[in-house]
Amino acid sequence: SHNTLSDIVIFGAMGDLAQRKLIPALYQLAREDLINKSSRILGVARQDIDKETFISDCTKSLHRFIKKDELDKESLAAFMSMLDYCKINFTEAENYKNLQSTLTTQDDRTRIFYYATPASMFGPISQNLSEAGCLNEQCRMVMEKPIGHDLISANAINDQVSEFFSESQIYRIDHYLGKETVQNLMALRFANPLFGTQWNQNHISHVEITVAEQVGIEGRWGYFDQAGQMRDMVQNHLLQLLCLTAMNPPDDLSADLIRNEKVKVLKAMRPITGDMHNTHVVRGRYTKGMIDNTQVPGYMEEEGANPKSNTETFVALKVEIDNWRWAGVPFYLRTGKRLAGKLSQITIHFKQQPHFIFNESQRNLAQNKLTIRLQPEEGISLQVLNKDQGLSNGMRLRSESLNLSFSQSTTQDRIPDAYERLLLELIKGNQNLFVRRDEIEHAWKWCDQLLDHWKMENKAPQPYAAGSWGPKAADLLIMKDGNCWHEDQ
Ligand code: BG6
Repeated sequence: SHNTLSDIVIFGAMGDLAQRKLIPALYQLAREDLINKSSRILGVARQDIDKETFISDCTKSLHRFIKKDELDKESLAAFMSMLDYCKINFTEAENYKNLQSTLTTQDDRTRIFYYATPASMFGPISQNLSEAGCLNEQCRMVMEKPIGHDLISANAINDQVSEFFSESQIYRIDHYLGKETVQNLMALRFANPLFGTQWNQNHISHVEITVAEQVGIEGRWGYFDQAGQMRDMVQNHLLQLLCLTAMNPPDDLSADLIRNEKVKVLKAMRPITGDMHNTHVVRGRYTKGMIDNTQVPGYMEEEGANPKSNTETFVALKVEIDNWRWAGVPFYLRTGKRLAGKLSQITIHFKQQPHFIFNESQRNLAQNKLTIRLQPEEGISLQVLNKDQGLSNGMRLRSESLNLSFSQSTTQDRIPDAYERLLLELIKGNQNLFVRRDEIEHAWKWCDQLLDHWKMENKAPQPYAAGSWGPKAADLLIMKDGNCWHEDQ
């Protein structure tokens, strides 16, 4: 059962990810009785602090990131008693002895090592854990993105780690896979014959995946400028969404069968070469503008900006998938920082009827659209055509939507954060929602060809004003095929 005892060791426990996401998520799991409360959460960091200080820092984070009415005394006290702290300098082998002795007193537990650190530490931590005798065959390790900045560096990291852990012990996080609505994509596609039978090039004209953010660089210029939106968002989150939308039904829900299907999609993505760079790709970078009625600086005016930077904060792509299901169906992907709204959604545009018997002027209405909204307001809506009511209108059509809103559903009052689900699956030992090594590799391989081209081209990305929907060219990318982005309609 998932209520088995575990020792969860978090490297980088004082960092942003741990304090913002992991500690709050573990608290929620404990509060909902989804983890055994005799489990231990062992924070590891190089800060010279004691257990009490660590607990008080975690308490502050809980108050910051969790709603008041979810912070009851009893749950808090129970959670605090699970916490412990161990000071380690990650690269000092000697330092791991303490950790080892803490762990061995409890050797019937599932050991989980969560690497909430930069990837450069993954190798050294693994080696030191191994040398200190902390590893056994049942233990699991969790890696956060970014795993590398291209195929070669990703392989190097995966090689280092796999010296100490087998693939079945390695859990690679893409937090988009933990989002409620992303999970629901599988239910929607594979449990509903209505959609299951229509999900191919016979019935679908094109697919749109938008992950728009309002935030800018938020003091992360140093990291972000090395990455750019392609590495930060497309290589992982957008390609995962694309895979889940496009993959064939797996024969069952086991992790490897699901991941096999995702890999097939990645392999079938047509490489972008030659002239396709002009017709299939738009790179953008925000200039100053207005977000929520507030003036915000452009990317190049952010603190710490390097005037020579050519890094993109926006990418739009037309992706083609060369297989039986999707031949001729473009997938338009778009993601950017400082856009007009925070909006993540997948829109499936169905083909028109082969023959149209209504007023010709209404033909452009006649398309069914299925929108899967990841955030905000998680839900699904299906646009259908109805007759306009009343005597005077004759047979006039009206496009309306059937809505399913998860945030209003009565069965679940709280939509769990992605990390809660991911940590729960990790504790259960289920790799479904984690990324396998070959997925990472194929995703990098596809992205590398674009990144290499951009590097060679050495051009500044196209400007767009903060608070807009991206460069004009992104609209043209989709309009030249006779389509347009969903929310512009
Ligand atoms: C992270 C990126 O992986 O995802 C960030 O590094 C981005 O740049 C974030 O803002 C978006 O996640 P979410 O869950 O807010 O859509």
